[in-house]
Amino acid sequence: MLEWFNNFNFVLLISFTKNMKKALLIGLSIFILIQLIRPKMNIDNSNSLIDKNVTEFPVDINKVLVNSCFDCHSNNTKYPWYNQLAPFSWIIAQHINEGKEHLNFSKWNTYNTNQKNHLLDEIEAVIKDNKMPLKSYLLMHDVALKKEEKELVLNWVQQTKSRLKNE
Ligand code: HEC
Repeated sequence: MLEWFNNFNFVLLISFTKNMKKALLIGLSIFILIQLIRPKMNIDNSNSLIDKNVTEFPVDINKVLVNSCFDCHSNNTKYPWYNQLAPFSWIIAQHINEGKEHLNFSKWNTYNTNQKNHLLDEIEAVIKDNKMPLKSYLLMHDVALKKEEKELVLNWVQQTKSRLKNE
């Protein structure tokens, strides 16, 4: 009886290892296959619009925005190494597409006064509520806005809004 039980265990062990191998192989194949689907990179080699931004935004504001926001809200993303790997590359691409739909600093000069005002209100809201940069991004990037940086951007928002009113 005991011998039978031991043999049975042995058979179970073998089929378990076989299944494990199969599962690993399938997992590995899927991982390799998904690498073939590569999202388009968000890199604008002309750089012209970014240069305009630099003149449009005061230097200190520009620095904060480039550091904490441009990866998802401009035409130029500084990609991390894991962008070489799906599915991370897909998640990153989705953040960029969605982020740029809402607000693209590279296109700031092309927004009309209404759009700018609306976006400035939204920027104020996300900064006050600590909603941006996205939490998942902050796990890998140490660029949460510091207190002084928040004050700087919020002041700039107010100044720009009153400037737009007088235009
Ligand atoms: C990792 C990418 C990422 C970074 C970095 C990032 N954002 Fe966003 N942002 C998004 C995405 C995605 C959305 C749209 C979905 C959402 O609102 O959560 C968004 C939406 C917004 C919106 C629109 C909010 C609304 O209510 O519709 C504003 C304004 C904004 N971001 C400002 C900023 C600012 C300012 C920074 C830098 C301090 C920043 N974001 C950094 C990804 C990002």
